[in-house]
Amino acid sequence: MMILVTGGLGYIGSHTVVELLGNGFEVVIVDDLSNSEKFILENIEEVSGKKFTFYPFDLKKKELLSQVFQAHNIGGCIHFAAHKSVGESQEMPLKYYENNLFTLIHLLQEFKDRELSNFIFSSSCTVYGQAEHMPIKEDTPLKVPKSAYGKTKQMGEEILKDFARAYDKKVSILRYFNPIGAHPSGKLGELPVGIPNNLVPYITQTAAGLREFLSIWGNDYPTPDGTAIRDYIYVVDLAKAHVAALKKLLACEENKVIDIFNLGTGRGVSVLEMVKIYEKANNVNVPYRICERRSGDITLAYADVRKAQKEMGWRSETTMEEALKTTWNWQSYLNTKD
Ligand code: UFG
Repeated sequence: MMILVTGGLGYIGSHTVVELLGNGFEVVIVDDLSNSEKFILENIEEVSGKKFTFYPFDLKKKELLSQVFQAHNIGGCIHFAAHKSVGESQEMPLKYYENNLFTLIHLLQEFKDRELSNFIFSSSCTVYGQAEHMPIKEDTPLKVPKSAYGKTKQMGEEILKDFARAYDKKVSILRYFNPIGAHPSGKLGELPVGIPNNLVPYITQTAAGLREFLSIWGNDYPTPDGTAIRDYIYVVDLAKAHVAALKKLLACEENKVIDIFNLGTGRGVSVLEMVKIYEKANNVNVPYRICERRSGDITLAYADVRKAQKEMGWRSETTMEEALKTTWNWQSYLNTKD
C-alpha cells in the first residue's frame, strides 16, 4: 500500500518513513525542504535499503498536490508538514494559520473528492495547556493554546473531527509529548536551524562545544528540583507509533473513526535531571546557568500512555540514556558534514 507522507524529510517524518518502508509500505513524500535537507533523502534510502518517490514542493500549491494523487494510488496519509516554532508563530501568526491550516484542508479535499480514507495527523500535547492532573489522559480537558502554532494544532484537530464525521472517514490524531533523539545509524536526526529552541538539541550543542552554556529557564517551578518537567519520547519509538496507528486504521471496518492518542513515555523528567542523564549517557560535561522563566512555558506535563498501549499495542521501549546516546552520534555525523 502507498502512503503519502507530507514533511517526510523532517525530523519525525524521516524516522517514520524508515519504519513504514521496513513494514512493507510504499511511500510518496511531499516536502518543500523548508526545514530539511536533500541529504536526508539519501540517508533514508541508505538506512532502509528501500526507494521511495519524492516531490519537492510546497503543499499550498494545490494543483501540484492534485497531480500527486492522480499519479499514485494513495491508501493513506501521515501529515507531518507544518511550521512548528512556537516563538515565530507569535511573531507571524498568519504565516502559521495559512501554512498549517490551508495545507491540511487541501489534503482533506483530495481525500474527500477521491474517496480516500486513513489520515494521520501530527498534533501536540500543547492542546492540553497546563493540565490540572497528571498523567494527562486523552480526555483531559483541552485549553486554548497560548501560541498561534498550538492553536493551529487544536484547530486542525477540530477540522479532522468534522471531516471524519461528515464524510465517513478514518482519522488518527497523535498528540506528541517531547520527541528526542536520533536514528541509531547516526544518519537521521533533528536539524535545528540557528539557535535551538528545544532542550535536547541545545544540550547537545553545548556538550559539543558549539554553545558556551545551557540556559535553564527557571528553577522556581513547584517541582522537586524547581525546574520544569516534561515527557521525553524517543523519536524511533514515536515513529513506530505511526505505523501502529496506521495499521489500526487499516484494520478498522467502521467509518467515522476518530482515534486520539497521547504519545509519550508516561514518565516526567525535569530539566536538571535531563542534564544529568545526558552527561552520564555520553560522558560529557554540560555547563548551565539558571535564568528567568521562558514566557509561555508550563510547569509539568507527562502522558497517560495506557490508551495507546491498550488500543494500538504500542508503548515506548527505549530508555532515556539510550535515546540521548543517539543524539551524540548524530552530532558527530553533522560535524563531519560541515
Ligand atoms: N528549556 C531550557 N533551556 C533551553 C530549552 C528548553 O531550560 O534552552 C526548558 C524549557 O523551559 C522547558 C523544557 O526545557 O521547561 C522543554 O523545553 P522544549 O522547548 O524542549 O519543549 P517544550 O515542552 O517547551 O515545547 C515542546 C515543543 C513545542 C510544543 C510544546 C508543547 O517543542 O512544539 O512541547 O507540546 F508546542
